[in-house]
Amino acid sequence: NSHTLWGGRFSEPTDEFVQRFTASVNFDQRMYNQDINGSLAHARMLEQAGILTNVECQAIIDGLESIRADIRDGKFSWSVALEDVHMNIESELTKRIGPTGKKLHTGRSRNDQVATDIRLFVRDAIDVLASELTRLQYALVDLAEREAATIMPGFTHLQTAQPITFGHHLMAWNEMLDRDYSRLLDCRKRLNVSPLGAAALAGTSFPIDRHFTAGQLGFDMPSRNSLDSVSDRDFAIELAACGSLLMTHLSRFSEELVLWTSTQFDFIDLPDRFCTGSSIMPQKKNPDVPELVRGKTGRVNGHLIALLTLMKSQPLAYNKDNQEDKEPLFDLLDTLLDCVKAYADMVPAITAKKENMYLAAKKGYATATDLADYLVKKDMPFRDAHEVVGKTVAYGLQQNKDLSELSLSELRQFSDSITEDVFEVLTLEGSVGARNHIGGTAPQQVLAAVANYRILLQQR
Ligand code: ARG
Repeated sequence: NSHTLWGGRFSEPTDEFVQRFTASVNFDQRMYNQDINGSLAHARMLEQAGILTNVECQAIIDGLESIRADIRDGKFSWSVALEDVHMNIESELTKRIGPTGKKLHTGRSRNDQVATDIRLFVRDAIDVLASELTRLQYALVDLAEREAATIMPGFTHLQTAQPITFGHHLMAWNEMLDRDYSRLLDCRKRLNVSPLGAAALAGTSFPIDRHFTAGQLGFDMPSRNSLDSVSDRDFAIELAACGSLLMTHLSRFSEELVLWTSTQFDFIDLPDRFCTGSSIMPQKKNPDVPELVRGKTGRVNGHLIALLTLMKSQPLAYNKDNQEDKEPLFDLLDTLLDCVKAYADMVPAITAKKENMYLAAKKGYATATDLADYLVKKDMPFRDAHEVVGKTVAYGLQQNKDLSELSLSELRQFSDSITEDVFEVLTLEGSVGARNHIGGTAPQQVLAAVANYRILLQQR
């Protein structure tokens, strides 16, 4: 009993099951670096405030660094009896440096300590995730440049709509990711305040310097309210929300990659190293990576709901419920990072089957809108033009011919406004080339968007 850190008040030891049930060390040990960094900042601040002597502070710093090295090298033995990462490290510190170790917790509580640790952990993860997102965006931009003039069908309702360029399609994905990136940074801004000093909930009677610890840990400022500081997990929920949206985007790319690698579409090729075979069907090459990313979207969405539900109705300030934030949060971050990494590795290896894309665009009467626009330019009201082209398409279907394969006299059955120059707009190249304005699908616009993004990405 005397070996627990709060043994003083208790007359019997914790039930063995309860000990295991309430412990978090098996998962929160992942935050050991952040926990030690937080303790270093706190110890230095205590020294500055005259609460620790220079010698005591140095002993604590050396002790913590030796613990960090042992944990890193897998030489540290974690104890469930010591509940969590915080108490494991603190107890070990006292073992190593003696009674001075017991002074570290002056003016601090595990409540502000854990709030600090998770913020630091999430901040580090956001930084890695953001740089992987940038790598993925570069990959998309590079591929878009290569495929700026590659023609494919664009879809609405998954039915052939109008011809587009593959580069334009890739840059649409890039737009989604660019918003995800800015959402992540936005989340980082709000999380980057230091809870240290809030102590258990009310602050501390010691003459602490919260600006000092905030500065040491790279926070923008100390948090403004001690109660809120120890009970706020908004940043975790925000991150999960950003993550869910990011995964929603990745699931949409995934869906398209799965469709496009099928025999029925056959638009792209994924290299073998991103696919697997079948144990029974020798011909199979399955797009496992996109499928798995699509599947993991459900897992991330689940974590968002778990975190929202965890925080719902919690009274101020800290509650033990909060310990349940870590497993969803860690799994969420691991999953996001794996998925973005998989895409950043895979996208440069996508090859377009240009011929198939081109033929598919040709098959679906994708230039019907161009013919209607042509008639409007010859002074026909758009609604009439729509009707005329509808009939022309019906005729083409009957004859099994694309619009560009109909003869001038066949076309003129439907309107005598149609003349020889119609064939320029009925080609796929003419159609995409004509959409040459900001945000349009023309190869020239794709290249402009690519150049623009190269500058934006470099400025990050
Ligand atoms: N392991 C705890 C957590 O993850 C640390 C804070 C515990 N504080 C307390 N008063 N029980 O939230």
